[in-house]
Amino acid sequence: MNLPEKVKIVEVGPRDGLQNEPGQVPVEAKVELIDRLGAAGLSVIEAGSFVSPKWVPQMAASDEVYKAIRKREGVSYPVLVPNMRGLESALQAGAEEIAIFAAASESFTRKNINATIDESLARYADVVRTALNKGLKIRGYVSCALGCPYEGEIAPESVAKVAGKLYGMGCYEISLGDTIGVGTPLKAGIMVRAVSQHVPIEHLAAHFHDTYGQGLANVLAVLQEGVSVVDSSVSGLGGCPYAKGATGNLATEDLLYMLDGMGIETGVNLEELLDAGRYICECLGRSPISRVGRARAT
Ligand code: HMG
Ligand code: MG
Repeated sequence: MNLPEKVKIVEVGPRDGLQNEPGQVPVEAKVELIDRLGAAGLSVIEAGSFVSPKWVPQMAASDEVYKAIRKREGVSYPVLVPNMRGLESALQAGAEEIAIFAAASESFTRKNINATIDESLARYADVVRTALNKGLKIRGYVSCALGCPYEGEIAPESVAKVAGKLYGMGCYEISLGDTIGVGTPLKAGIMVRAVSQHVPIEHLAAHFHDTYGQGLANVLAVLQEGVSVVDSSVSGLGGCPYAKGATGNLATEDLLYMLDGMGIETGVNLEELLDAGRYICECLGRSPISRVGRARAT
């Protein structure tokens, strides 16, 4: 089996996880979670989202969260930005890395950011230009990479086209999002191969929601294609408020257990990660959600 020696895990729980929680998680709890994730050895931790609080109230205090994080040496804390207004707020908070989020489906783009794909790309081109001038790093997402809640199947070429445009603008990495977790391994591999015709494979990341329990199998499929950056969410929290039926991301604990078991280096400590997972589940009043968290619960 052709597998990478190292995988970078991008922890999206404090953003993708908490954006979909019904209740508000206090700023202090978000900051504590991010701190514990940093202590576990994660080197990229998505810290929040500078979107409209009318659209996603759960992310409203992202500036307070961002300012309160005790930034660790060597750790990036990207924040989501949908437009120039979001970029300005991110800059004011002191962000050094942002993530922009496009999609391969017209209907989802309309529901999620109220624009057509072309309008969203034009908007992002301005955001990226300004952000690069300010010295920020920019990550790009393509949602609905393996299916859309409104349009169903999405052609790999549509994903590749949007990914290529984001990469061409200056995003250093493109994360391919199975927003509703409908993908299966062979389709995930085919999609990544199609995108790699437009974006070098070492600049691609995989972002699987685990709605249908396919997350780990999909990761294994894309690792064999040469992907070595994988997004996941502590305790499997997550979902997109504009993708009905989507459950959480692949749990970081489960991803790490698999990678550790295959001897793939990540720099992340499972016990510390489990501690972060227990902490956020306690805050949310839930039992551990990840499979590894449940197996280790005493
Ligand atoms: P709109 O309504 O078309 O925008 O929304 P607007 O310009 O007309 O503004 C509406 C109001 O929002 C105005 O306030 C603006 O000032 C304000 P009002 O005048 O009514 O009081 N506003 C803002 N406020 C704070 N920060 C901003 C901002 N922009 C406008 N940046 C907009 C367009 C893009 C703003 C909206 O659709 C939006 O915020 N959408 C975000 C949706 C979202 O966050 N979705 C979840 C993240 S994506 C995801 O989870 C997928 C991912 O995980 C990958 C995967 O799984 O596939 C990344
Ligand atoms: Mg997501």
